[in-house]
Formats: sequence, C-alpha cells, structure tokens
Amino acid sequence: MSATRSAAQAWDDEYRRGRYQDEPPVAFVADILAAAHRAGATDGLYVGCGNGRNLLPLVDGGLDLLGLDISAEAVRQLADRRPDRAGRLRHGDLDSLPLGATWPLVIGIQVFQHGDRGQAHRQVRAAQRRVAAGGLICVRVNAVGTDVWPAHDVVERAPDGGFTVRYTAGPKRGLDIHFFGAAELGQLFAGWAPVLPARPQRTERDNLGTGQWTQWEAIWRRPAELVTP
Ligand SMILES: C[S@@+](CC[C@H](N)C(=O)[O-])C[C@H]1O[C@@H](n2cnc3c(N)ncnc32)[C@H](O)[C@@H]1O
Repeated sequence: MSATRSAAQAWDDEYRRGRYQDEPPVAFVADILAAAHRAGATDGLYVGCGNGRNLLPLVDGGLDLLGLDISAEAVRQLADRRPDRAGRLRHGDLDSLPLGATWPLVIGIQVFQHGDRGQAHRQVRAAQRRVAAGGLICVRVNAVGTDVWPAHDVVERAPDGGFTVRYTAGPKRGLDIHFFGAAELGQLFAGWAPVLPARPQRTERDNLGTGQWTQWEAIWRRPAELVTP
C-alpha cells in the first residue's frame, strides 16, 4: 500500500536523524507492565516498536514481546542496540504476520493514527484480531484537543469529533495523520472490557508557543465470547 510505503520512508528518515535516541519511555509503560502482571500475560506483540524506547523497558520488565515495525531503519537500530532481541523483531505490518496468529497482549503506542480515518480504523481492527480471547490490548493514540503543529491542512472531520490532518511541513510532510475523538475510540472498542479506561494524557511541547499534544491511553480486555469485525 503506497500510504504505508511513504510512512515507512518518513520514519526511516526520522530514525536516521536520531529520533527517540536517549528519549525516556512514556509513563504508560508502567500501566502496561502492571496490567500484564495482574492478567498473568508474559508474551505479546508490540506493533510499531520503533527503535525501542518503550519496547526495551517492557522487555526488561519481564515481557517477551515480538516487535513489529514498517521502518527497516528502526528495526536495524533496535537490533544493533540489543542483539539479544534481534530474533524477536520483524520488519513489516500486521498483514505480514501469520494468518490467525494471536497474542495474550497486544501493544500499540502512537502507531494506529497513521493514515486517514478509514486507514486508522482498519489498523485498530487488525490489531484487535491479533488479541487472544481474554487477552489485553494497550493503546496510546493521538487525541482531539491536540494543538496540531507544525503546518497542516485538516482533510476530514467527523461528527464524533475525530479528524485527519495532512502535514504541509515538518518530518511528516505529505502524510495523513488521524486524531481520535472519545466517542470514536469508544465505538471502536464497543464490547471490550475496560481495564484502564481511556484517559487523555497531555504533553506540553518544548518549543515555545506550539502548545500541547494529547494522547488517549487505554487498556481493554477481549471478552472470550467477542467476535471482532
Ligand atoms: C510515533 S512512532 C512510535 C514508536 C514507538 N511505539 C515508540 O513509542 O517509541 C510510530 C512507529 O510506528 C511505525 N509504524 C507506522 N505504521 C505502521 C504499521 N502499519 N505497522 C507497523 N508499524 C508502523 C513507524 O515506523 C514508527 O516506528
């Protein structure tokens, strides 16, 4: 898919420029470790693992995660950084995984927002299908309320508040990125049991005058009887 290819190229460039090197993990990592521990889940899939700022503390916290990313550069940097994990990294997207494979824990941090609304929803649905019955899905995604920056055009807006922008400047120039509304996310996870109900997490940007960005953070459990679309 061309959208995936251009996102992969943009991320390859970003990682070559040093993105996330020496960045601490997001605080949500502690919530994931606590929820996985309570659920007895030790094995999982991390979709969009990047170069490891969050994957490595999760692994060092006791989780055996398969890291998946469309950026070959991210996977290369992560394997260089931690050769012991190289065999548990995979270059590709969810479609590249064996048909029907599921995990007791699926994690996506700032990944399911790539593309327009339809593409973002398809990524969430594809990740949901990878959660084993009774398993957990841990999600951090762009939220409405963000002061979107840098320059961009709003290319779609839905009645539930969700919108998509196409950046006209910066590292994501030319890419569509989606921002989820609360009701939109709730609808996507209808029938799932909230373990950590969706909460908005605000981060002030370092660049003066550029405002804040907000992410939804949430953990759901897949009921054994749920049929995913
Ligand atoms: C904002 S970065 C976050 C990386 C990592 N989760 C972190 O928090 O450090 C988004 C990552 O998702 C990857 N990505 C984007 N779309 C993807 C897809 N469809 N499947 C797998 N990875 C994807 C990008 O290459 C990038 O590494």
